[in-house]
Amino acid sequence: MSDDNILQRAPSQHLGPAYRSQEERPSATVSTKVAHENVTVLPQTPQLISLLTMIRDKNTNRADFIFYSNRINRLLVEEALNHLPVLPHTVTTPVGRAYAGVKFEGKICGVSIMRAGEAMEQALRECCRSVRIGKILIQRDEETSKPRLFYDKLPEDISERWALLLDPMLATGGSALMAVDVLRSRGVPEDHILFLNLIASPEGAANFAQKFPKVRIVTAFVDQGLDEKNYIVPGLGDFGDRFYTM
Ligand code: PRP
Ligand code: URA
Repeated sequence: MSDDNILQRAPSQHLGPAYRSQEERPSATVSTKVAHENVTVLPQTPQLISLLTMIRDKNTNRADFIFYSNRINRLLVEEALNHLPVLPHTVTTPVGRAYAGVKFEGKICGVSIMRAGEAMEQALRECCRSVRIGKILIQRDEETSKPRLFYDKLPEDISERWALLLDPMLATGGSALMAVDVLRSRGVPEDHILFLNLIASPEGAANFAQKFPKVRIVTAFVDQGLDEKNYIVPGLGDFGDRFYTM
């Protein structure tokens, strides 16, 4: 796919509150819309788009890449937690008045698809103190793009928990589909899995959403497509390399 074609197909939107003038609300490329009910895309706010602009830039150094991707991961975790069920919960305030609120009463765990998924653990820990975190090591073959499962280590009682599956990149969808198969083989019901993702390709999101319609995907952005090496475009390159080794 040439860059010209990508730019032509990319949706753009004026960013910022409607009370600002058009000049104060520059347009930028925003997420492609997806028709699948089980895919939630974060609101395309000026903050989110500026954070994504930082991490997409090939000139952004590793320290900044870590800092800004952590900020997006935090937004993803906060949004994903909104999809967990809550029960009514009334408390009494220090001035003796009742406040009718809600409370989550279930159990959760994180599951990171190694290596890149581990980069999302910090944001999860910041929101859910002492959360249990399982690991699944899946690596995509560089030649064929097919995933290979090497290892998994998950909480014993994972079938009784909501599983927050973590991987920043959803390209062909092969790795995420394999990870969901591992969770299902341990008894986690499909509708108790939330997949947290930073950038998805439209084909990866469609593939995943169709195969597992009860798994909820929370993503920051659905990009334009895949290149000949099955990298997401425009994308951000190899997330794991940029976060850990470059
Ligand atoms: C990346 C990424 C996903 C996978 C996405 O991991 O973190 O797990 O590729 O591609 P897919 O949707 O086509 O399967 P990779 O296997 O490169 O390993 P890494 O985490 O060590 O970078
Ligand atoms: N893995 C990545 O890190 N980036 C891509 O674009 C595809 C797979």
